[in-house]
Amino acid sequence: MQTTPVSATTSRRSFLQTGAAGAAAVVTAPVLNAGLYAGGSDRLKVGLVGCGGRGSGAASQALNADSGTELVAMADAFEDILSSCRRRLAREFNREGQAVRVTVDDDHSFVGFEGYKRVIDSCDVVLLATTPHFRPEQLRLAVEAGKHVFCEKPVAVDAPGVRSVLESSAKAQEKNLSLVSGLCWRYHHGKRATFEQIRNGAIGDIVSMQCSYLTGGVWDPRRTREQCKSEMEYQMRNWYYYTWLSGDFNVEQHIHSLDKMMWAMNDEPPVTISGSGGRQVRTDARYGNIYDHFDVVYQWANGVKAFARCRHWNNCENEVEDYIIGTKGRVDVMAHKIYDHQGNTIWQHEGPGGDMYQIEHDELFASIRNGKPINNGDYMCKSTMMAIAGRMVGYTGQKLTWEQVMSSKEDLTPSSYDWVDIPVPEVAIPGKTKFI
Ligand SMILES: NC(=O)c1ccc[n+]([C@@H]2O[C@H](COP(=O)([O-])OP(=O)(O)OC[C@H]3O[C@@H](n4cnc5c(N)ncnc54)[C@H](O)[C@@H]3O)[C@@H](O)[C@H]2O)c1
Repeated sequence: MQTTPVSATTSRRSFLQTGAAGAAAVVTAPVLNAGLYAGGSDRLKVGLVGCGGRGSGAASQALNADSGTELVAMADAFEDILSSCRRRLAREFNREGQAVRVTVDDDHSFVGFEGYKRVIDSCDVVLLATTPHFRPEQLRLAVEAGKHVFCEKPVAVDAPGVRSVLESSAKAQEKNLSLVSGLCWRYHHGKRATFEQIRNGAIGDIVSMQCSYLTGGVWDPRRTREQCKSEMEYQMRNWYYYTWLSGDFNVEQHIHSLDKMMWAMNDEPPVTISGSGGRQVRTDARYGNIYDHFDVVYQWANGVKAFARCRHWNNCENEVEDYIIGTKGRVDVMAHKIYDHQGNTIWQHEGPGGDMYQIEHDELFASIRNGKPINNGDYMCKSTMMAIAGRMVGYTGQKLTWEQVMSSKEDLTPSSYDWVDIPVPEVAIPGKTKFI
């Protein structure tokens, strides 16, 4: 599909309101760690791909992290979403009497599936925050073009995607590029302190783990089929409910819990995965083809098991907890507390957790300024694969090995990215749906 600059419907208002190009827009603010940016310039041009909730947040955090950053280009599949994000950011960051930080003009606002290419061309650091399906290809191109990346989770929706991201991560390392993952708990002070305790032996050897992500749903479908010009638009607007776009809800949401299990195991992947899942409440066709609950057991080579359950059911018990049980004690990860087996608290993190979303960007931009790249590629791939593996066993009803899931040939890419009536995907049925 042709990349199109945002349409003429986006009028050229004052850049104080919308962001604008031109000499007047160049950032003149003092720069942190000035002169250390490898490109030899104090100004770091930031590009945003995916201008929804998280993309808007990530752009704010990038601008807050370093006074030398400037948002120069944006892409989204939809013009309305891009325009409202651009307006919001310009309002927040382009203030009278201060340096202009959002300089995205119409010629650097790209709508459609291909706009990411133009954004990558325009910037030094790219923020990838679209729906997960598109991440592998966007990351591949960003790294090939030598750009530093903030990469939201999950990083793929299928094993070919994960394999591609592993390759891109290795290339980023070779090229000394920073690659920071949106698995944000790894940047939370309380979680970091808690995992350090585990590492230092506070609970002895890990015996088993449990994580729960039991909540109500996220947003209801945003548009009806009648409000959309094609089935592609309908699925893209309501991406959460389509496995090819989101990976399913256990991949899109529960990945945060699974990532903590992976973290506890020093990023060693499990050897087998088994479990079940289904669609008990969100059965209407407007909820696409994803499930609403999964119960999965991950087992490691040393016999440790993680019992992972997630569900999206309204008006039911909610629980978002992670527990790690060891030979000498147990950890309540979300509470940053460690107990002995008699129930006595033996350690508790006292300090503030910090804003993990901001810390990710603070560390990303500091790493670029200092020339000490961060590379979160390994764990972001393994945690994504762990979540996809949970979906695979839920959909097929089979017990699978890590080797099998990593070499899976299931590729959820549609035949083309066009605004046409693509097929409506079927809901998987355990016992009938095959592992590919
Ligand atoms: N780390 C976290 O805690 C956290 C929190 C929220 C969301 N996220 C992740 O961020 C990502 C986005 O989530 P969101 O809540 O912002 O969703 P969203 O729907 O608000 O935004 C996604 C945007 O991406 C756009 N998009 C989709 N495909 C595109 C393409 N090919 N090119 C350009 N734009 C495209 C959509 O039109 C949409 O505007 C997801 O992967 C989600 O899991 C992470």
